Amino acid sequence: MGTWRQNIAVDLGSSGIRICVEKKGLIVDEPSLVAVRQGGEVVAIGGRARIIEGKTDEGDINIIRPIKKGTISDYTVTVNMVGYFLDEAIKNPIRRLIKPDVITPVHCDITNVGRRATERALREAGAGRIFFVETPLAAAIGANLDVSAPNGKLIVSIGAEITDIAVISYDGIVAATSVNVGGRSFDEAIKMYFRKEYKMVLGDRTAEKIKNENVCVYRDVRVQPFDVSAFELSGRLPADKQIRPEELIKQLSDVALPIIEGISKVLENTPPELVSDIHQRGIVLTGGGSRLAGLDVFISKGTGIDTVIADDPQYCVVKGCMKLLNSLSNEKKNELMNE
Ligand SMILES: Nc1ncnc2c1ncn2[C@@H]1O[C@H](COP(=O)(O)OP(=O)(O)OP(=O)(O)O)[C@@H](O)[C@H]1O
Ligand SMILES: [Mg+2]
Repeated sequence: MGTWRQNIAVDLGSSGIRICVEKKGLIVDEPSLVAVRQGGEVVAIGGRARIIEGKTDEGDINIIRPIKKGTISDYTVTVNMVGYFLDEAIKNPIRRLIKPDVITPVHCDITNVGRRATERALREAGAGRIFFVETPLAAAIGANLDVSAPNGKLIVSIGAEITDIAVISYDGIVAATSVNVGGRSFDEAIKMYFRKEYKMVLGDRTAEKIKNENVCVYRDVRVQPFDVSAFELSGRLPADKQIRPEELIKQLSDVALPIIEGISKVLENTPPELVSDIHQRGIVLTGGGSRLAGLDVFISKGTGIDTVIADDPQYCVVKGCMKLLNSLSNEKKNELMNE
């Protein structure tokens, strides 16, 4: 029976859902979006909902982001979305008869209510046994850090709406915190800057594109001027503007500051010998938000500790979850279920 049960990792992010299947790898990598018609009918899920989001003529359709700040904000829509993607992940109809073992990451400050909602939603969506792992521990495993070694490692997982910071040693979390900052916070700061400075209104996707391609959070990391086209605040006329990346550094670094404060707080709660390991080994960044140009330098300068970005940072959490679940024997799983 145990061998028939598939291991599946589900990372329900505020911006994206990712699902890995044992022996197959990453099967689902889609935006966490659902298009719902007034009255509740689900019209499209994931990437298809994003296409609808871009259209203006679909007046009675709402685009719902069911995950906010890493927790479920719309339960029914989440169940629909996860159920749909679990079906995509388990194509084999015989395999579907046996509910899979599912592992999912949880943020460090998740409440019991939030955890129970996630468990219930996964179960309703088709999961069998459900296992939780703290996001930074999964991120560290996915970044190929040796989490079982008795030395200290500092991992910072920067998502779309939340950042998890943790010191890990001996397979466990020694100190941790979550900060309400992520990639989307920078998008908002970019929108705000254009509104205030140039009276221009930027859409979410334009702001995100500027963040990903043009600006930086530390001086001289990006210097190439870039053009922005958007509507003016008054009159709704289109306007074009050439922008220098350094214009936005103050706004973006203000947004990033709580991450430095979070790291300091975590280090204050870490035993001194582990802090000295971290000074030697450096900080590892994961999560899509860590790809903002110059964020590694900003964190390194702000903390005085060398900082590197993991390879493919946005996939570290789901990859780490998969590795962890695959490493558990059936006995160990039963033991964990009975805890
Ligand atoms: N090249 C890039 N430069 C800057 N930011 C990027 C880049 N690529 C992706 N991002 C940002 O990474 C964020 C998504 O990261 P990730 O997929 O780790 O988040 P998530 O898991 O969905 O969210 P959370 O963990 O907060 O619930 C988005 O805000 C996205 O704009
Ligand atoms: Mg995430």
